[in-house]
Amino acid sequence: MRRWGSLAAGIGLILVAAVLLLLFGSQFGRPGRTIGPRSQTGRIPEAPLEFRSNGEQIYFTATSRSGEPITFRGGPAWMQMHGGSCANCHGPDGRGGIRVHMTDVVAPDIRYRTLTSAEHDEHGGDEGHPPYTDALIQRAITEGLDPAGKPLDPAMPRWSMSQRDLDDVVAYLKTLDGERGEP
Ligand code: HEC
Repeated sequence: MRRWGSLAAGIGLILVAAVLLLLFGSQFGRPGRTIGPRSQTGRIPEAPLEFRSNGEQIYFTATSRSGEPITFRGGPAWMQMHGGSCANCHGPDGRGGIRVHMTDVVAPDIRYRTLTSAEHDEHGGDEGHPPYTDALIQRAITEGLDPAGKPLDPAMPRWSMSQRDLDDVVAYLKTLDGERGEP
């Protein structure tokens, strides 16, 4: 008799487990949050699937690992509607040369070495300005001013992000100096 009792208890347990699985099973197999570029107007096929640094994530997605908000003012109208990130305009390798969607402006090369080299001020004729420093790059990102204090074209959004995120973005621009994929 005892045997039948424990058998019934066993079957009962299995039934309870089955019901629980039915009720909550869908909670388990859920795919994790995939980290990748948000789908934006300018899709970036070369965007990495996983980001090696917070700076890289910000560059491609305008989101921070810290969860702190990254916002912007200005930029073209489509940015206001769909959002966007540095890579949408400056390209996945930071070399620019891409016409900003729906404007007549071409986004410049923003690799660190280009921005900070002495020749940088020769590229634009009368737009000449001294080379960038880390602090001046950060000012360009947040206030939209070139090293001479001249406002950048309004197609360049004015960004708002934490100091740490700004540091991470500039650190990322430094990694773009090498060949793709190399630090
Ligand atoms: C909607 C397009 C767009 C996006 C998005 C964008 N930029 Fe720009 N950016 C531009 C354009 C266009 C210029 C050139 C403005 C000018 O020459 O007056 C520029 C200029 C700059 C400059 C100054 C370069 C120079 O030669 O003076 C820096 C630095 C820069 N961007 C960094 C960034 C970073 C970092 C991000 C992402 C957080 C970003 N930009 C996102 C369009 C964009």
